[in-house]
Amino acid sequence: MPTIPSMKGDGFYDQHSQVQEQFILSSQDLIEEAARAIPLPENGPIGLADLGCSEGKNSLMLMRKLTQLVRQRSQQPLMITHNDLPANNWNGFFRNLTPYGPNIWAQANATSFFQPVVPPGTLHIACCYSTVHWLSQLPPVPNPNGVLFALMEPQSRKVLVDQAARDWEAFLQARAEELVPGGRLIIVSGGNQDGDVAGLKMYRLLDQILQELGHPPFVMPIYYRDEQEIRQPLERCGFQVEQCRIQRLTTPFAEQLERDGDRQKYAKDTTGFLRAWMEPLLPDPRIYEILEERLAATGTEVANVQIVAAFSKR
Ligand SMILES: C[S@@+](CC[C@H](N)C(=O)[O-])C[C@H]1O[C@@H](n2cnc3c(N)ncnc32)[C@H](O)[C@@H]1O
Repeated sequence: MPTIPSMKGDGFYDQHSQVQEQFILSSQDLIEEAARAIPLPENGPIGLADLGCSEGKNSLMLMRKLTQLVRQRSQQPLMITHNDLPANNWNGFFRNLTPYGPNIWAQANATSFFQPVVPPGTLHIACCYSTVHWLSQLPPVPNPNGVLFALMEPQSRKVLVDQAARDWEAFLQARAEELVPGGRLIIVSGGNQDGDVAGLKMYRLLDQILQELGHPPFVMPIYYRDEQEIRQPLERCGFQVEQCRIQRLTTPFAEQLERDGDRQKYAKDTTGFLRAWMEPLLPDPRIYEILEERLAATGTEVANVQIVAAFSKR
């Protein structure tokens, strides 16, 4: 079972993650509410974590905002953990990590978030943006055609459904250990509403291109959960739902296309966004040349169905 690689490095992810940035900005209400609601320790640090921080541009923007909000309530030390996989571009991350401010301590952690990443009971807010749809590993899929679970035949799809269910439970159990009672977990992730799955048109196009190129069968190690799959294990893992909504966003590139009608630019920007997370898995440059051509010809929308949620630890 291959492990999951990280994003395209050398600053490429940071330069091509405006879509993920927009997802963070679109859920500010959850951050504000969490900062208002968490119980504050009388002694010792307030723990904040961002899980899946990548090269850091978006993660640092998010955590700076969160620290400002928490600072309005407390002058206790803040302990911030930025987490990602060992293969992440950590050199790039540390270049981005300028000081947060007095009495704010930042650390990085290179462990999979399917296990705890900080000591038990030390975390007050955990955030996970555009990340929890990545599987911990890719199980053997009987008929690996179709690229994404949603485009596969039922037996293969079931293997991925089951892997995603095990992963989500492991993720919640790890957070349940780390969070203090009343602590918050915020997630924004690609989602699925009645078969309307994040990026489905784009995945269809990708599948078609891989077939045209005679590429070996490829399974994207991603699963977009629906609301029921998200809610199902919460209670037994010790969480209560504070907010859970489905949100539909276009990309900043599609908005620009609306304004200027420039399809070439739309295709180039959208392909950059896709390469930032796909290229480590699908390195053949021809894929992106064809993708860009087709996106320019068709203006195919990479619209996103998202789960936006906040849970509190009981
Ligand atoms: C699309 S990026 C999102 C980065 C950032 N949160 C943002 O919103 O721009 C997904 C990140 O999750 C990381 N990731 C994937 N699986 C992970 C895991 N099991 N543990 C920690 N990080 C993981 C990837 O390495 C990647 O950097």
